[in-house]
Amino acid sequence: MGFVPKHGKEFERQERPSRRFNDYKGELEEVNVKNGAFVLDAGCGSGVVSRYLAERFPASWVIACDENAALIETARNSAQKIPNLFYEEQDLRRLKYPDGHFDLIVSRHVLYRRDPDSLKRILSEFARILTPDGKLVVIETDGG
Ligand SMILES: C[S@@+](CC[C@H](N)C(=O)[O-])C[C@H]1O[C@@H](n2cnc3c(N)ncnc32)[C@H](O)[C@@H]1O
Repeated sequence: MGFVPKHGKEFERQERPSRRFNDYKGELEEVNVKNGAFVLDAGCGSGVVSRYLAERFPASWVIACDENAALIETARNSAQKIPNLFYEEQDLRRLKYPDGHFDLIVSRHVLYRRDPDSLKRILSEFARILTPDGKLVVIETDGG
């Protein structure tokens, strides 16, 4: 079960350190995608990484998902002007995307807190929805 943000506090809690340190930009700088690629920000939280990905790859489609409906709504509101970015409420353990759909999955600060069974199911879902030459980028520690 995810956090239930009250009055946007959870959104702010997730956004503030990312805004201050911008670590994810350095961690993702070698990542690239072709035009028209489908990119998933898995466990997007406040959406800081998905906004960055959508603006960096304007010719791609970025889908960002999280199980926390309230967080998804706030993330969606904060990205209204980014035309290639879409937010969806989804459980990473049972994703509703077809096989081989995504060229790139980025998942930051999500997997390390999952129990072994959830972790196994999430990784199996990632493998299923990636294209055969798709890439998975997992970021678990700032600057790591
Ligand atoms: C520490 S936050 C990281 C958010 C974002 N990736 C970032 O870098 O700011 C972890 C997020 O993973 C989400 N999450 C955890 N388990 C999940 C699951 N099974 N399905 C979807 N989202 C999940 C939580 O709701 C939370 O928003």
